Amino acid sequence: MCPSKKTSVVSGFYKLPIEKRREFVAQFANLNEDDVKSFSSCLDLATADRMIENVLGTFEVPLGLAVNFLINNKDYIIPMATEESSVVAAASNAAKIARVKGGFSTTCSEPLMIGQLQLLHIKDVAAAAQKIMQHKKQLLTVANAQDKILVDFGGGAKDIEVRILESPLGHMIVTHLIVDVRDAMGANAVNTMCEALAPVLEEITGGIVRLKILSNLADKRLVKATAIFDKEKMGGDQVVDAFLESYVLASIDPYRAATHNKGIMNGIDALIIATGNDFRAIEAGAHAYAARNGQYTSLTQYHKNKDGDLVGKIELPMAVGVVGGAANMHPKAKLCRKILGVKTARELAEVVASLGLAQNFAALFALSTVGIQKGHMSLHAKNIAVMAGAQGDEIEKLADFLVHDGKVKLDYAKELLEKIRKKS
Ligand code: MEV
Repeated sequence: MCPSKKTSVVSGFYKLPIEKRREFVAQFANLNEDDVKSFSSCLDLATADRMIENVLGTFEVPLGLAVNFLINNKDYIIPMATEESSVVAAASNAAKIARVKGGFSTTCSEPLMIGQLQLLHIKDVAAAAQKIMQHKKQLLTVANAQDKILVDFGGGAKDIEVRILESPLGHMIVTHLIVDVRDAMGANAVNTMCEALAPVLEEITGGIVRLKILSNLADKRLVKATAIFDKEKMGGDQVVDAFLESYVLASIDPYRAATHNKGIMNGIDALIIATGNDFRAIEAGAHAYAARNGQYTSLTQYHKNKDGDLVGKIELPMAVGVVGGAANMHPKAKLCRKILGVKTARELAEVVASLGLAQNFAALFALSTVGIQKGHMSLHAKNIAVMAGAQGDEIEKLADFLVHDGKVKLDYAKELLEKIRKKS
């Protein structure tokens, strides 16, 4: 079952028993015995107790694996932590179609985060803004003194920008501190620098600094992914056209765009969680970016190329880290990074964006053809079978009957289970 060359393509992965799936992952990602064992273990209580307050226990969600991904000519298998059925299968299927025309290609900007300092009670905001820019060198020196390690790694505070905003309380200055956070998500580094800069800014301007905090609209830390989806694999010209008709609504209507982008985040969040990153930060950045031109719209774009294939693109902020925070503390997050084989935040961001595009393609592909309920039904039927009392082999058998009869309902499942048991 395991291919000799390192490829993420594996057909019928979903049909394999869990042990065989683990064998595949172990071979692909060179996992050791302890790694494989830890798939079954929960986060230990002592670690959990250090991560948040008032700990009672841990809360589990399923960890699945998306296969078939080819990103910048490298094969990836992608761990996904999610409670939603069909998401992992849909991503794997989209990646399989994308492979035909070379998989996903990505680009990523430098890991620049923005810290905001809100300055109030200033009489002459224009003059104060000028003064801030004149002290740029001093401000960057103070900021960089807060994180020598980051500076040693080539990161640190790089720039200062000043914005004058009108508010119901009068004019205010918002100073942006631009920080290269290298392989971290960066919240701690940026917030520490902002807090250190606050008294210096007050002294320079005579104003009062109120907020000093990172912005989750990380629009200087963008990632882009693109892929060509083969028209024949999609089912021909008509399917491509139907796809584009479905897509266009998200580009013009916020009601649809919210659902469309939610589908993108189904994939993105699952990987963000699996790698111990902050999914709220990614969500906030994504949705704010989707509204950057004044109207909330789609994070993806699609068009047909001259061969009639579908070209998909995604662009969004991606503040992820491979060092620091939960990414370092949570043993499964470390294991998931090992499975992915990513060493840098940039590479992780590129995989995340590709997965988001794959997830969106899969949703629109299903929605513009058979609908999404079909994909949901087989797992749902298994849950109904269990609820009806099926055990062992009965579960699969009963679920198959339910899907076949198009009646995935509890009362029907109970009735059918009785019949199956009487027959055997
Ligand atoms: C469901 O979790 C996600 C979808 O609604 C996304 C979409 O409509 O594009 C299927």
